[in-house]
Amino acid sequence: MGLLIVGIDTSCDDTSVSVVDVDEGRFTVISDIVSSQAEIHKRFGGIVPEIASRRHIEVILPLFIQALDDANISMDDIDVISVCKGPGLIGSLIVGCSFAKSISYVKKIPLVSVNHLEGHLFSPFAVEKVEFPFLGLIVSGGHTTMVRVDAPLRYRELGKTRDDAAGEAFDKVAKLLGLGYPGGPVIDELSKKGDPERFRFTRPYLPDTFDFSFSGLKTAVLNLVKNMNRNELEENIPDIVASFQSTVIDVLIKKVEWALKKEDLKRIVVSGGVAANSELRRRFKELSEEMDIELHIPPLRYCTDNAVMISVAGYFYYRERIFSGINLNPLAYLPLS
Ligand code: KG4
Ligand code: ZN
Repeated sequence: MGLLIVGIDTSCDDTSVSVVDVDEGRFTVISDIVSSQAEIHKRFGGIVPEIASRRHIEVILPLFIQALDDANISMDDIDVISVCKGPGLIGSLIVGCSFAKSISYVKKIPLVSVNHLEGHLFSPFAVEKVEFPFLGLIVSGGHTTMVRVDAPLRYRELGKTRDDAAGEAFDKVAKLLGLGYPGGPVIDELSKKGDPERFRFTRPYLPDTFDFSFSGLKTAVLNLVKNMNRNELEENIPDIVASFQSTVIDVLIKKVEWALKKEDLKRIVVSGGVAANSELRRRFKELSEEMDIELHIPPLRYCTDNAVMISVAGYFYYRERIFSGINLNPLAYLPLS
C-alpha cells in the first residue's frame, strides 16, 4: 500500500468522502462515497444553502466511518487528509473544513486543503495518466473556467463566465420549462429525441476574449416559450432543449479550439458536472480527432462533485509539502492561483 489520502468535499449540496491510495504517482480509488442531497433540494427548484449545511452536519461522520470501513482501514492508517476549502457555499464548506481539521488535530495527520476547481481539473488523473501542459475546461453548476495548466499547482486562468455558469444555464432553462432540478441530466436525455437545428439561438461567442456568457441564452429560451400554450410547449420541448444544448456546446468547442491554437497546446482536460453531457462528450471527441489533440474527460462518476478528485489534487500539495494548519478557514470565493 502507498500513501493513503482521505478526501472530503462539502462545497455545495453533496457530501463526499474518499480514500485514495497513491503509489509512485499512480492513483487507486479504494473508497468513494457521495451522499446526494438532490432529492431534498428538488422541491425548491435549486439548492437551499442552509438546508445543505444542516444535511452535511448530519451525514459527514457516518460517511467518513463508512469510507474507512469500505477501505478496510482505521484512522491510524490515514497518511493525509485533503479537504476542499472553496469556492462554494460557505456554510457547507465550514462543515467539511471543521471536520477535517478536528480529525487532523486529534490523530496528528497532515492536512492539505485544495480549491474545488483544482479537484475538477485533476479528476481524470484518478483513472489515467495525464501529462502536462494541458488546457483545462471546467464546466459545472458553479463555474465555467478555462485554464492553462503547466504543472500541478501552476495555472494561468484564460477566461471564465461573466454571468451564469454552463451548468447553471442548464438548471435555469430546465426550471423555466418545468423539467425539475438538476437540469443537466434531463436536458441531456430529452435532447436525444430533439432537433438541435430547429430553433436558432444566437451563439454568445464574445470575440477577443476567452470569457463566456450564458445568461442571455436563458432569456432567449424564455422569450421563445413565453407565448406558447401548454400543448405547444410540451410538443416542442425536445427541440427547444436540443437547440439550447447545442448552442452551449458550440460556444465551448469554439473557445477551446481557439485557446488550443493560441496557447499552442496539444492536450485538453474537460471536467465538471456538465462534462457528463453525452453530446458534449461526443463533440469534444470529434474535435480531438479533427485537431489531433489528446482528450481527457473523466468517467461520469468523477464529472459531478466527488471527493476522489479532492484526494488526487491533495496529493500534489502533499508532494510539495504545502500543508494547512488548524487556522484553515474556507472561502466562498476562491480563484485558482
Ligand atoms: O460539478 P458539479 O456536480 O457541481 C458544481 O461544482 O457545480 O456540477 C453540477 C452541474 C449542474 O448544473 C448539473 O445540471 C450539471 O452539472 N450536469 C449536467 C449533466 N449532469 C450534470 N449538465 C449537462 N448534462 C449532463 N448530463
Ligand atoms: Zn464541482
